[in-house]
Amino acid sequence: MTAPVRENLSGLDLRAEIERLRKERNAVILAHYYQKPEIQDLADFVGDSLELSRKAADTDADVIAFCGVKFMAETAKILSPQKTVILPDMDAGCSLEDSCPPEQFARFRAAHPDHIALTYINCSAAVKALSDIIVTSSSAETIISQIPESQKIIFGPDRHLGGYLNRKFGRDMLLWPGVCIVHEAFSETELLKLKAQHPGAPVAAHPECPPHIVDHADYVGSTSGILQFAKSFPGDTLIVATEPHIIHQMELALPEKTFIGAPGADGNCNCNICPYMALNTMEKLYLALRDLKPQIEMDEGLRLAARKSLDRMLEMASGTVGKGDLGRA
Ligand code: 13P
Ligand code: SF4
Repeated sequence: MTAPVRENLSGLDLRAEIERLRKERNAVILAHYYQKPEIQDLADFVGDSLELSRKAADTDADVIAFCGVKFMAETAKILSPQKTVILPDMDAGCSLEDSCPPEQFARFRAAHPDHIALTYINCSAAVKALSDIIVTSSSAETIISQIPESQKIIFGPDRHLGGYLNRKFGRDMLLWPGVCIVHEAFSETELLKLKAQHPGAPVAAHPECPPHIVDHADYVGSTSGILQFAKSFPGDTLIVATEPHIIHQMELALPEKTFIGAPGADGNCNCNICPYMALNTMEKLYLALRDLKPQIEMDEGLRLAARKSLDRMLEMASGTVGKGDLGRA
């Protein structure tokens, strides 16, 4: 259970206090596109999972305040071990990570010794340590296209992203059966109704969506890809099938256009708001910067083991690895 904020912070100008602490601590605030607008607005950098990993690896700051979920903050710690990494709410998990306990994943790997493990970054450090190459949704296509077709692959934990890659690249990866509860909640019926109400409006969808949503999309890509599409499509209305807080960046960049979040099952639910991302608040960010906790801590052996597959992702995402370099780590 998440600990409630017990102190009375009502008299504080949280924005000003966070600003002050950011300077005092020499901290950088990194935020994912699924964070609340007020957190996105004060972050030093807002990005997708790959961009945030790169920022975490490159920063000169002493403290990384990670406004995202735990696997993202862990990734920052793996890549920047000398930094203090704080996460406003340590309960900010992910249904994909929860679906993939390391012991079960180790058994899955062991049952397929001739397969490499290509693993979505939405997993624990222990699962990263059991993997050969990590991918994010923005790097997955670049990375898979560098793996020889003859190479057998297991892909976890997101079966929808894995299925999408299988279909797009004609691969036959064995899929771990995890899903993102947020992207799983979009309703095809409601999406079709929305399309009928806005004829001609394209649909942009995240590949964590199930096929019955992705099949109606004009563009499929990561959060940063969807944002780029929003900036470049010629029309005036876009239907967005991913966590709706990303619409904040679209409205900032293109105030004259209309962005409509794709609906969930009853057409009007909040089921597409990520409940884990939503645990981070301004109050908790202020307290985390003030007290330097909760902090990500990690066993050094685990960190080094997890780092290999992440380093491979960073190299392959920028195309610096040749086909001959691939294989089980
Ligand atoms: P990207 O920002 O990499 O597209 O990831 C989406 C997501 O679900 C993060 O949890
Ligand atoms: Fe996990 Fe889905 Fe939330 Fe992303 S949106 S953190 S994949 S539950």
